[in-house]
Amino acid sequence: MSRIAYVNGLYVPHAEAAVHIEDRGYQFGDGVYEVCEVYGGHLVDATRHLARLARSLSELRIRAPMSDAALRQIMREVVRRNRVRDGMVYIQVTRGVARRDHVFPSSDVAPAVVMTARAADFAKADRQAGEGVAVITVPENRWDRVDIKTVGLLPNVLAKQQAKESGAREAWFVTSDGLVTEGGSTNAWIVTGEGRLVTRPATRGILRGITREVVCEVAARQGVPLEERPFSVPEALAAREAFITAATTLVMPVVRIDGHMVGDGRPGPVTRALRSHFHEATELVAV
Ligand code: PDD
Repeated sequence: MSRIAYVNGLYVPHAEAAVHIEDRGYQFGDGVYEVCEVYGGHLVDATRHLARLARSLSELRIRAPMSDAALRQIMREVVRRNRVRDGMVYIQVTRGVARRDHVFPSSDVAPAVVMTARAADFAKADRQAGEGVAVITVPENRWDRVDIKTVGLLPNVLAKQQAKESGAREAWFVTSDGLVTEGGSTNAWIVTGEGRLVTRPATRGILRGITREVVCEVAARQGVPLEERPFSVPEALAAREAFITAATTLVMPVVRIDGHMVGDGRPGPVTRALRSHFHEATELVAV
């Protein structure tokens, strides 16, 4: 079956899907995106993803391309046309197509919208979660508005490539004062020796992950105490458990940081429970 993409009002074969060379996303990284999980034929937390998309657009003063209801309709259509049961839908909105000039184009330039859907092997991800993954640490070198989900991801790309070349799944950005912000495409967490969950507050230093918000709710339901505060690399190395969160990655145990074992080097019980009960706290809407 051939894949279908949505590009500026049309559903087109994925292989032929293209945007204009003067799309500002292509030239300036002047756009935002969302990745929404598809789970058993359901959109996961689409409401929250669309709310964050609206916020990202508004922070960059890009006008909303259409209503949330219309975006949601296209999300469902893209998932249906690609017959995705488990996987993800990707949404990208840029400031549109205009003659190259750094300043904003005139207000009659329409934002450009692209959506794709892709299947993922969740059974494989579950097997990986059974083993846990490694992370490396890298210096934080991103701008101070990482709370906006922009397509300008070069530091993230370079950090994740470095992780891959080191045999790790993720790179944790670390500030000059030794505190972990987040991963290249995930939020970062530890479980302390006292069994307390720690993650950085979702202020401007990190992206406010939707998965992060759900995990906070699952933890509350399970009676796991939560501290929203920064943690250091030594604290993470001394932690009982560590994990990363993101859409489709869900809750992924971290068992090595910079080559050092976390806890006993195996996924811990708090992480495993958060992963296995994750979807109980999500909004699931049938496609
Ligand atoms: N990444 N932090 C960063 C820098 C991210 O790029 C992401 C998501 C997250 C987690 O956010 P959420 O839980 O809402 O997925 C945190 C997506 C999945 C990506 O870029 O592919």
